[in-house]
Amino acid sequence: MLSGLNGRVVIVGAGHAGGTAATLLRQYGWTGAITLVGAEARPPYQRPPLSKGLMLGKVTPQELQLKPEGFYAERQIELRTGTCVTRVEREAQRVLLETGEALAYDHLILATGARLRPLPVPGIDLAGVVSLRTDVDALRLRAAVQPGTRVLVVGGGYIGLEAAASARTLGAEVCVLERENRLMARVASQELSAFVTGYARSKGVAIELSASVVGFDGEQGQVRSARLADGRSLPCDLALVGIGVLAEQALAQEAGLVCEDGVVVDEEALTSDPRISAIGDCTRRPVVLFERNARLESVHNAMEQAKQVAARLCGKPQPVAEAPWTWSDQFDLRLQIAGLTSPDDQVALRGDTAGNAFAIFHISPQGLLRAVEAVNAPMDFAFARMAIGKRLRTPGVRLSDPAIPLKDVAIA
Ligand code: NAI
Repeated sequence: MLSGLNGRVVIVGAGHAGGTAATLLRQYGWTGAITLVGAEARPPYQRPPLSKGLMLGKVTPQELQLKPEGFYAERQIELRTGTCVTRVEREAQRVLLETGEALAYDHLILATGARLRPLPVPGIDLAGVVSLRTDVDALRLRAAVQPGTRVLVVGGGYIGLEAAASARTLGAEVCVLERENRLMARVASQELSAFVTGYARSKGVAIELSASVVGFDGEQGQVRSARLADGRSLPCDLALVGIGVLAEQALAQEAGLVCEDGVVVDEEALTSDPRISAIGDCTRRPVVLFERNARLESVHNAMEQAKQVAARLCGKPQPVAEAPWTWSDQFDLRLQIAGLTSPDDQVALRGDTAGNAFAIFHISPQGLLRAVEAVNAPMDFAFARMAIGKRLRTPGVRLSDPAIPLKDVAIA
């Protein structure tokens, strides 16, 4: 292990996790060399606004940068954008770049993120079949979506629904095809899925559930329609595929680190090699409050693990474990989800689904508040996030009673 604060740290992946780790290392007093290597052309930037603000033209790519121009150089953080790492050599403690160059490390941080889950169907390479992962993708999408454009969205998860809302707001005709029998099945309860489906439909987005695309058909290389498993053919000018992501773990796997659908790390973001940490979307990690391991895909996860690794390397106390959380903006809805649900949770609704402002609380058989799904209810969300983190007990009947202020609901 490292002693002192002056070893060479190499961070592979210049996304939210990698950028935050570099920043925190300096903030916590690391004096050694820090090199941040990223495949994308730009310095670390926020991804959440890609399917919203950037697609709608409300923000520019520059405004999404995590830190202003000059920030990294001022702090002696060497930022190498547009650079791919091809191999990790653990014995030699170095990484190889595609340029043939080698970077030596005393500690390596893998922040390689996730890659798009492929949709292996005929026609996937036609022009007009697109995906959304980078700022470049979002700008292309914005340019392609005009009033009246027929946009077919494959995948009713976060990307699909946010991009569908943005495309509809831009005047497109939008249809979402979801393979499961409900939207957002990975992250949302049945109740929230049902609400989101109704809301999107009320805004003119067509939603097809239990729908599988088996191929795309085109003319002169341009997509014209999608073929469904039930035999239907749906015309489109543009098809956005957003069917989830896979942990980007190839470097770790080839280097022999333990990977199980994600690079396996401990509660301080350390991998099976004491000289290598991993943070962000690429990891499978313990979720301490829930006593389970999970692959979390969120900004909060990226930031929390960046704090864990920076604190560990700099000899600072570990951050207090927090409830995992995400948010999503769709039309004028703000969805905020914290915690993890279990099938045996009891569900309590507070607020008014018809008024589009409510919270769904999930309570364990032992009475612990385990998760919240809030829609346009930021105060309820803030309370619940805190209560989940403190493992408070909260009777469902009291949560559902709007006459009882939330601060008086928790009992222990
Ligand atoms: P996702 O996992 O949220 O949703 C993918 C959806 O596609 C699921 O509902 C799944 O059932 C469906 N699906 C899978 N295969 C399919 C198929 N063959 N045909 C039709 N549907 C299929 O992933 P998504 O939306 O692609 O997002 C990618 C990543 O970006 C995730 O890590 C997500 O968390 C992140 N993201 C997060 C946002 C947020 O937190 N607000 C916003 C946008 C993206």
